[in-house]
Amino acid sequence: MRTQVGIIGAGPAGLLLSHLLHLRGISSVVLEKRSRDYVERRVRAGVLEQGTVDTLVEAGVGERMKREGLPHHGIELRYGGAGHRIAFERLVPGRSITVYGQQEVVKDLIAARLAAGGDVRFEVEDVAVHAPESQPYLTFGGERLDCEIIAGCDGFHGVSRPSIPEGVLSVFERDYPFAWLGILARVAPSSQELIYTRTERGFALHSMRSPTVSRFYLQVPADAREEEWPDERIWAELKARLETVPGFTLTTGEIMEKGVTPMRAFVVEPMQYGRLYLAGDAAHIVPPTGAKGLNLAVADVRVMTEALAAYFERGSAELLDGYSAACLKRVWRAQHFSWWMTTLLHTFEDDDPYARRLQLSYLDYVTSSEAAATTLAENYVGMP
Ligand code: FAD
Ligand code: DHB
Repeated sequence: MRTQVGIIGAGPAGLLLSHLLHLRGISSVVLEKRSRDYVERRVRAGVLEQGTVDTLVEAGVGERMKREGLPHHGIELRYGGAGHRIAFERLVPGRSITVYGQQEVVKDLIAARLAAGGDVRFEVEDVAVHAPESQPYLTFGGERLDCEIIAGCDGFHGVSRPSIPEGVLSVFERDYPFAWLGILARVAPSSQELIYTRTERGFALHSMRSPTVSRFYLQVPADAREEEWPDERIWAELKARLETVPGFTLTTGEIMEKGVTPMRAFVVEPMQYGRLYLAGDAAHIVPPTGAKGLNLAVADVRVMTEALAAYFERGSAELLDGYSAACLKRVWRAQHFSWWMTTLLHTFEDDDPYARRLQLSYLDYVTSSEAAATTLAENYVGMP
């Protein structure tokens, strides 16, 4: 079997790449180890930057997102007994974000690939990368797929990055001493906009998926297990962290899903080796506080599509050679922003009273200075 681009992973990165390549007349095969049902149900991110929304719309996969996605023109930072709105429409006119679940993006992309006769294979076993430096091929479940290019879109725990020989990649990483417990609840959001709240008990985030479904996150210890968080405890803790301004009541409901996500930052440089190119979580992870993970995956894929189009249409490898450098600029901006948001809003066990005062002082600055609020807004809605 032969294809132009062998893609490992049917997450947002792999599926979008396959779709964008199809629009350019470039063939690909996507190999995914999980079932279609599993990837369509996997609840993860929800904030789409303007650039991500534009990419999906331009690629013809934005119809349902335009109908069901929730446009947001601001977020609230809540701390010290008050809420402070970061108003995108005033600070970064014309730029906003859309709340639309990652698994909905994945569903839309799978539907588009299958409708166009795309080759997306689920429940594929033992994918392995061979000879990425010369004539690359993939093997899986006893089959062989020859490719001109391999795209490693298989997330942080995939096989493509570890297939690169030791010593080639530089690794930059940081583990945070806490995790996020994420829940999805069948209840109308208690707020029109996302609330990022900092309390002495830790951070919490009120997000949403639809007029009847809410999404929440709680800062929990790094070793927290779901079993330690029965529904009553989750609601009590969310109330304690969110009902901290006069007149705000959190409406509770049935919890449909819960999961603990470790907080970690990770980048490899370069994001390529021979004819293997990494995109999305396979190359970098950010702590989720800045809502950047999914958006970075989409940005990488945009860059990779242009580079592959130049290669297959004109035989020019220049953009492919510069792929990593082109992506890493945005990746490091997102790394810094995500670290900054995380540091601003979470409690750290070793914080002394001095460190807490510094954090509160910085929050006061961000919420009172037009320049500082603009920095937050500009990074949150994302670079064009
Ligand atoms: P993925 O979505 O991870 O897709 C990779 C795909 O490759 C998966 O389908 C996987 O099954 C497949 N795969 C892996 N190994 C193999 C293999 N050996 N062979 C074949 N296929 C393979 N970001 C936010 O901005 N906000 C959030 O709230 C948020 N929450 C998250 C919660 C969790 C539990 C996780 C893991 C991530 C979260 N993220 C969040 C990050 C965001 O979801 C990711 O950045 C985004 O999914 C990246 O897309 P991707 O396509 O690069 O990787
Ligand atoms: C969501 C996730 C995030 O990481 C974030 O910063 C905001 C919202 C969400 O899943 O809705």
